[in-house]
Amino acid sequence: MIERYREFLPISPATPIISLGEGSTPLIYSRRLSERIGRGCDVFVKNEGVNPTGSFKDRGMTVAVSKAMERGTRALICASTGNTSASAAAYAARAGISCVVILPAGKIATGKLLQAFAYGAKIVAVNGNFDDALRIVRELGETGDFTIVNSINPDRIAGQKTAAFEIVDELGDAPDFHLLPVGNAGNITAYWAGYREYFARERSTKLPSMLGFQAAGAAPIFHDYIIDKPETIASAIRIGNPASWKQARAAIVESRGAIDVVSDEKILAAQSWLAQHEGIFVEPASAASIAGVFKWCDSDDAAYSFQKIPEGSRIVCTVTGHGLKDPDVIIRRMKELKPVAATMTDVRRAIGM
Ligand code: F0G
Repeated sequence: MIERYREFLPISPATPIISLGEGSTPLIYSRRLSERIGRGCDVFVKNEGVNPTGSFKDRGMTVAVSKAMERGTRALICASTGNTSASAAAYAARAGISCVVILPAGKIATGKLLQAFAYGAKIVAVNGNFDDALRIVRELGETGDFTIVNSINPDRIAGQKTAAFEIVDELGDAPDFHLLPVGNAGNITAYWAGYREYFARERSTKLPSMLGFQAAGAAPIFHDYIIDKPETIASAIRIGNPASWKQARAAIVESRGAIDVVSDEKILAAQSWLAQHEGIFVEPASAASIAGVFKWCDSDDAAYSFQKIPEGSRIVCTVTGHGLKDPDVIIRRMKELKPVAATMTDVRRAIGM
């Protein structure tokens, strides 16, 4: 990915490139989403779940870890709701350095915690939430023993903006609307920086409106106050005091976009809908952008009139992480599967057709 966009990244000939083949993810035209939205809109899904560790974090991590190596770092550190730690652990392994991850105890989706173990990170679970973990990481970062690879590291943002470049390169211009989930607010900051940079270099003729979606129980930017005990099924975006709060606000205001909320129920419904209508299986946090496009465009949601997304708009929804990372809700459904006798009759009865 770094090679593709080298001229836009803080990379010099002296930077050792630490890569796992991230980026160049599919931008999938969704016929069924476009049909459901109607009114001549075209909806595309940018599937970041197919990155090497299964989330968009790898775009930022390749740049952050390459720069850390250039500066002679021996150890990385991050706080995480799961995906940043999976990515940091993988890129640290690739670079041959150590990685410490500070996680809110009991709040990390199974697949993500498993990744941190598999890649050999030093894992510390703290009795607190993500915001507590990030506070500790900031303090440890000041000792000079570690490089922080959370999105407060500008190299992470620089890497993540390449997703916006890819979208413009593929569509031939920027979309009219870009929807994405918002947690610590690094990604919305990165996309907006990417779109602005490409526009300034005349690679696009317009800028999209950025629409960010927070989970209803973890929506500090929407409410404009810190949430002490954020709660949502979408554990990746269970954050009460986002680090890039100000930058996210700026992106929304400058792009004439908005920040909005989606309920856990709508998030899970959107996750199932996307898997079952398009074959794209994403984690609950990622489905916030799909729940968002439904909320803004579905005619049966009276509070959100048609006017907000005009006819014929080109809409991109980023889905940020792979569904296999966070299987707990679906595992509950799997437990209902009861075996039947291995005979034609019993199997036909079980199929019901
Ligand atoms: N979607 C997923 C799957 C995420 O893991 C995250 C953030 C977001 C969306 C929100 O992105 O924070 O840039 O606004 N995960 C971080 C982590 C916090 O630790 O993995 P954001």
